[in-house]
Amino acid sequence: MHVLRAISAAIAVGSCGDEVVVREQCLELSDADAECPEGEEAEEALFTDGSATLLARYGARTLEQDGQIYELPAECCYEVETLESLGPSHCGMGRPYVVAGRARVASMQRRGSGGGWGCPSHDAPEREAAFAKLAPETRTLLANRWRARGLLEHASVASFAQFTLGLMSFGAPASLVRESLAAGLSEVRHAELCFELAHELDGQHAAPGPLATPSSRTVANRQELTARLFHDACVEETLGALELSERQRSTSEPRIAKVLARLLADELKHAALAWRALAWLCQDCACRSVVQRELPLAEVRMAEERSEFDRPELTAFGEPCAVELRRMQREDFARVVKPAAERLLQMRQHAS
Ligand SMILES: [Fe+2]
Ligand SMILES: [Fe+2]
Repeated sequence: MHVLRAISAAIAVGSCGDEVVVREQCLELSDADAECPEGEEAEEALFTDGSATLLARYGARTLEQDGQIYELPAECCYEVETLESLGPSHCGMGRPYVVAGRARVASMQRRGSGGGWGCPSHDAPEREAAFAKLAPETRTLLANRWRARGLLEHASVASFAQFTLGLMSFGAPASLVRESLAAGLSEVRHAELCFELAHELDGQHAAPGPLATPSSRTVANRQELTARLFHDACVEETLGALELSERQRSTSEPRIAKVLARLLADELKHAALAWRALAWLCQDCACRSVVQRELPLAEVRMAEERSEFDRPELTAFGEPCAVELRRMQREDFARVVKPAAERLLQMRQHAS
């Protein structure tokens, strides 16, 4: 492997749906590499099926060859442009880690053993054999998607850690704190599952690298916690769970269906936790008005159009067409999220 590590500098994924995503991503070169890879070689090293344009070379290392000493770059950074179809919800299939209004994920690292994230299990060879019948291009496409989802699941761990602190800041009951901690742990498992599956698909080892967490402070007040909870959890995790259910239903591949089933079971619990936490926060009148304000904003976002990107050849592997997913998301919002929020507001009005 000519590249040891891929680092994406604080990848900010504003909308991880079906649209063009541009990010800066870097590669750390190994001793055997003379130069920064370009073109297809760079795209392969960065785990992307989009384009990678070399932006800059950083650092210096020396290489001695045939009595000559060469000065070589240590790190190469690229602008990576890709069409990502991770799902129509804000950031894939679950709770985003949001910093300054933008969803954030960790860097991606190539590692010999997967760094403990997605270690191949004892029956991995059998699973890999099950995927051997797929075309190499399909395996690569699917693996890249599952690896990208792995980063989102990994980011959900940070999101729950932040949420737990927020709950504690405002004296939440023990049951909510306990469930939030447990949910964060289950997100660790989700990330592992995604990286395991990606490895089975294309045989590559990769793992989440550093996650920039500049905003370690908890939320400023109950209203801010309410707004974040509503968007990141009540909307995203509810829609994410419903989306997983559709993905599981539509896949004919047993191994992928099994992973989706596990994610679905947990995400349903996370969505339920989100609504319970919102009900607790909405005992406060000011928090109720936050939900009244944010619900129409979420509805507007649902109606936004995005450039669609479809890979019809992947529909049998739990990757429905983007147009279809977007339609379902709007329906699910109108059928589940909006009525749930309105019911909660009505209940509190009657209680007060
Ligand atoms: Fe998850
Ligand atoms: Fe979740």
